[in-house]
Amino acid sequence: MIVAIANQKGGVGKTTTAINLAAALALRGQPTLLIDLDPQANSTLSFLDMSTVSRSMYDAIADGGCSMADVIVESPVPNLAIAPSRIALAKLEAKLVGEIDAHFRLKDRLAAVRDRYPNIVIDCPPTLGLLTVNALVAATHLLIPIQSSYFALEGTDDLLETIDKVRARPNPALQILGVLITMHDKRTSLARDIRGQIQKVFGSKVFKTVITKSVRLEESPAYRESIFSYAPHSSGASEYYSLCEEVIDRA
Ligand SMILES: Nc1ncnc2c1ncn2[C@@H]1O[C@H](COP(=O)(O)OP(=O)(O)O)[C@@H](O)[C@H]1O
Ligand SMILES: [Mg+2]
Repeated sequence: MIVAIANQKGGVGKTTTAINLAAALALRGQPTLLIDLDPQANSTLSFLDMSTVSRSMYDAIADGGCSMADVIVESPVPNLAIAPSRIALAKLEAKLVGEIDAHFRLKDRLAAVRDRYPNIVIDCPPTLGLLTVNALVAATHLLIPIQSSYFALEGTDDLLETIDKVRARPNPALQILGVLITMHDKRTSLARDIRGQIQKVFGSKVFKTVITKSVRLEESPAYRESIFSYAPHSSGASEYYSLCEEVIDRA
């Protein structure tokens, strides 16, 4: 299973979901690889000290002499490896202009390590550009986090259009694993309305698990820990664990 976590909106919970889903999968004992495709490197920073990162996904994708195995590093979490990002990734689009295999680079590079990692999670940047398209071409599944907020569904048409394009040619097998409601506030009636709206649009694709607002989820990356070691008894830990079970059931 290669799950891309994508939504071109920023701040909807992509990175929080990528790091904690990857950690939950790793906790179950299977080798898991978290690929950070966002130049802002938030997933990378959630587990690693940047001063220890020498090569990044930029090198793996742009440089023919550098393989995925050359950039992957172990994280402090057992069974969890990271393919780190660096700000250099922001230059990738310009670098690949005109390259005939520009959309297939990640898929091709991943082929060499796929057997080693039964679970691969890809954290995407907040755009629908070349990096996200590379993730969608390489992925078997897509998970879309949607923030429980007034403008929750704004922009989803563009995302669905991109998914249709990717499915039309480069990756017909791409499946929408599900839509995840994040940063939900159970107490407000607005949040309940928004949840209803999201369910109306995406129906059974919406995960039963809803991620509620939690300070612990915000804090854990600063300590370079997943929610499972930082606050194992928090709502965030139990919600991301049950998301992981749903993901495994659906995949
Ligand atoms: N369930 C949550 N409760 C509280 N804060 C959250 C939650 N999920 C994410 N956040 C915070 O919201 C901000 C944006 O989340 P992030 O996962 O980085 O989104 P994205 O990767 O889509 O930009 C971060 O500061 C993150 O810590
Ligand atoms: Mg992010």
